[in-house]
Amino acid sequence: MADANFLNQLKKRRTFAIISHPDAGKTTMTERLLLHGGVIQSAGTVKGRGSDKHATSDWMAMEQERGISVTTSVMQFPYANHLLNLLDTPGHADFSEDTYRTLTAVDSALMVIDGAKGVEERTIKLMEVCRMRDTPILTFINKLDRDVREPIDLIDEIEDILSIRCIPITWPIGMGQNFQGVYHLLENRVYFYKRGQGLKLTAPDIVDGLDHPRLAERLGSQLNALKDQIEFIQGVSEPFEVKEFLAGRQTPVFFGTALGNFGIDHLLQGVVKWAPAPLARSARQRVVEPAEEKFSGVVFKIQANMDPRHRDRIAFLRLCSGAFHAGMNLFHVRSGKTLKSVEALTLMAGERMILDEAFAGDIIGVHNHGTIQIGDTFTEGETLGFVGVPHFAPELFRRIRLRDPLKNKQLVKGLTQLSEEGAAQVFMPKKNNDLILGAIGVLQFDVVAHRLKAEYGVDCVYEPISVAAARWITSTQSNEMKLFVDRNPEYLAADGGGHLTYLAPSMANLSLTQERWPAILFSKTRRVGEAEK
Ligand code: G4P
Repeated sequence: MADANFLNQLKKRRTFAIISHPDAGKTTMTERLLLHGGVIQSAGTVKGRGSDKHATSDWMAMEQERGISVTTSVMQFPYANHLLNLLDTPGHADFSEDTYRTLTAVDSALMVIDGAKGVEERTIKLMEVCRMRDTPILTFINKLDRDVREPIDLIDEIEDILSIRCIPITWPIGMGQNFQGVYHLLENRVYFYKRGQGLKLTAPDIVDGLDHPRLAERLGSQLNALKDQIEFIQGVSEPFEVKEFLAGRQTPVFFGTALGNFGIDHLLQGVVKWAPAPLARSARQRVVEPAEEKFSGVVFKIQANMDPRHRDRIAFLRLCSGAFHAGMNLFHVRSGKTLKSVEALTLMAGERMILDEAFAGDIIGVHNHGTIQIGDTFTEGETLGFVGVPHFAPELFRRIRLRDPLKNKQLVKGLTQLSEEGAAQVFMPKKNNDLILGAIGVLQFDVVAHRLKAEYGVDCVYEPISVAAARWITSTQSNEMKLFVDRNPEYLAADGGGHLTYLAPSMANLSLTQERWPAILFSKTRRVGEAEK
C-alpha cells in the first residue's frame, strides 16, 4: 500500500496551463502566479520581457535572434500548502502543435480573457483541445483596470462561443479609472482594489457583506448598481458545483487585473480548492491510477537543440503514476530498452536543474538521443501504452524544395525524424514526389528549415501550395474506403507515419467531399497508437 507521505504529495499537486489569445495577459499572469508562489521576487523575470534573459541563455541561435521562446517551461511553485505545476504553452508566433500537446499533460487549465476583447480566436482553438479530455477550466477576466466590455456581455459570449456555463465567483465593481475592486459571491465579501502599480502586493481592503456601512461610504452611488447586479447574477446563475466543473461543464469566473496584481489570489484559491489533483490516465491496456506505487510516464513534448554544442534533445514526460528518484532505471516500452540511471531535468524560466525526485502530476525532462518519440511511455517494466497525446491536423502548408537535389536522402531522413519528434508534419502525395510540410504556427517552418540545415546539412526552400486543410482518413467500410481512394488520388497523401490523409485544396472542397462520402471519417486529430491498433 502507498505510504501516507506519497499520497500527501499527490494530494498537494495541481498541474495546469494557461490558455489565452496573444496579449490577453498570459505572461503577466504567469509572473504574478510566481510572485504569489514566492518563486520570483520581482516582476519582469519571466520570459525576458524587457530583460536580457534570452541573451544569457543558450537556446538555439534563432531564438536569440528573434527574442522568442520556443521552449516549454515547467514552473513549480508552492501556494497554500499545495504544489502547483504550471506548464507554459508557447504562444504568439511560436504557437505550434506543442502548445496543443502541452494541454494533454495537464489536469486543468486557466483561461485568461482580455476584458476589452472577449473570446478571441486562439482561445477558441485551445478550448477545442481542452474539450477532447473535458479538462476543467477556471476563467480569469483580465484588464479590469481598463475600460472593458460589460461583464455580463463577456459572460454571455463565453457561454455562447465556448459552450461552457460560467459561474461568477467574483464580480467586478466598476472598471477602468473607476475600478473599485470585486465582490466575492461565495464569501459575501468586498475586496477593494488599490489603484497604482506600486501597490501591487499590498493586501486589499476587505469588507464583509453588502450592507456594511463602510461600503456605502466608499462606493457611494456605485453600491446600488452593485447590489442590483449581484441580485441579478444570483438570480440567473446556477450554483457552482465542483462535479460540473470537473466534468468541464461549468467554469468558475474571476475578475481582476494581472498587471495590477488584483484577483490573482482568488483565482489561486480556486485552483487549490477545486482543480483536480493528478488524475488517472488511460493506457491501452488499463487505467493507471496516480497513486500506484510503480512509476509510469508519457512523453508529450520533445525539445531539441537546447544546447547546440551538444545537439541534445530533451523528452518531457508527464508522470502518470508513482514517483521518480534520481538514478532510477526507466523501461522505454516502444523499444523494449531500459534507460539506466536516468537523470531528470526540470526547467525553471530557462534554467536547467537536476531533480532528486518527482511525483505523479510532475513533469520531468529526460535526455533523448533520438530514440524517444512523442506519445512514448516509460515504466518500471510493465508494458503500457498511454493514449491521448494526439497529432493535430496542421493548418498551414508549404512545399519543401531542396537547393541541392543530391541531398534528397538526408532531407527525407531529417523530415521523418523531425516529424516523429513532433516539430512539424510531413505529407507525401500519392500523385507525385512532392514533400509537403504542415504546421500549426508559421514559425514551425523556420524551425524545420533551420534544423534541417544545422543537424542534417540540408539546405531547403519553401514554396506555396494550394492545400487548405489536412484530415486523416478512416472508415469502417472497406469497400467505401477503396472506392474513395480510387476516386480521389489527386488529394491523397501519406503522413510521416504512413497514415492516409486527405489534403483539401479549399475548405469548400473539404465540406463537399465530406458530404459526398458519409462513410468516410475525416479526423482533425490522430491519437498516437490509434491507427496502429
Ligand atoms: P501575453 O503573454 O498573453 O501575450 O500577454 P502579456 O502578459 O505580455 O500582456 C500583453 C499586454 O497587456 C502587455 O502590455 C501587458 O502589460 C498588458 N496587460 C496584461 N495584463 C494587464 C492588465 O491587467 N491591465 C492592463 N492595463 N494591461 C495588462 P504591453 O504594452 O504589450 O507590454 P509591456 O510593455 O507592458 O510589457
